[in-house]
Amino acid sequence: MASNYNNSAWFYDRLSRLVYGRALINAQVYLLQFVPANSAVLIVGGGTGWILEELTKIHPSGLGITYVEIAADMMARSRRQNTGLNSVVFINDAIENVGINREFDAVITPFLFDNFTEATAQTVFNYIHQLLKPGAIWLNADFQLTGKWWQSVLLKAMFLFFRILCKIEASELPDVDRLFTSGGFKALEGKCFYGDFVVAKIYKKR
Ligand SMILES: C[S@@+](CC[C@H](N)C(=O)[O-])C[C@H]1O[C@@H](n2cnc3c(N)ncnc32)[C@H](O)[C@@H]1O
Repeated sequence: MASNYNNSAWFYDRLSRLVYGRALINAQVYLLQFVPANSAVLIVGGGTGWILEELTKIHPSGLGITYVEIAADMMARSRRQNTGLNSVVFINDAIENVGINREFDAVITPFLFDNFTEATAQTVFNYIHQLLKPGAIWLNADFQLTGKWWQSVLLKAMFLFFRILCKIEASELPDVDRLFTSGGFKALEGKCFYGDFVVAKIYKKR
């Protein structure tokens, strides 16, 4: 069952700021420095699209961006963001349903996989994987559990909230590390935020 973030589009960013301060933003902005200049970039699940403006601050031109977001209300907000002289193709659909006939140098998946069951995460991962050129960079940000009690409390509260409001299918985090390891990716660097609850990692396709 596909999630539906339409209901949350108008308050999503404010809620995120209220609970996490700038942590979720900082995790994604940290990743953006690894996007190569003049590259073909895929962004999946960008939400309201503020990441487009942040990416444009680093690369005001030269990028060919494909922006895939399933929620129409999120997409409407994304289209209003400043993308400078970069070219952007907006696709309002689930990534796994989109027929894309180009390959990418980099992909950004910011808090995408935590919406999915293990099975959907694998399907989405495989789909994105085959869209990447050899040597491409995969920039992923997600929540993780590192053993602190409050992390699982916060995670359960989030899953409950977004299951009721946005019908997300997940009730626990999929094993994202396993996806990248079994997919043959090399982890290059990473950084944790918000008491290690948030992790941003850079992977390279072999
Ligand atoms: C947890 S939100 C994160 C939004 C944004 N990355 C942020 O950090 O503010 C996940 C986003 O992924 C989108 N999404 C979920 N499943 C998707 C799919 N299969 N294809 C494309 N987008 C999807 C949702 O609509 C939502 O906007």
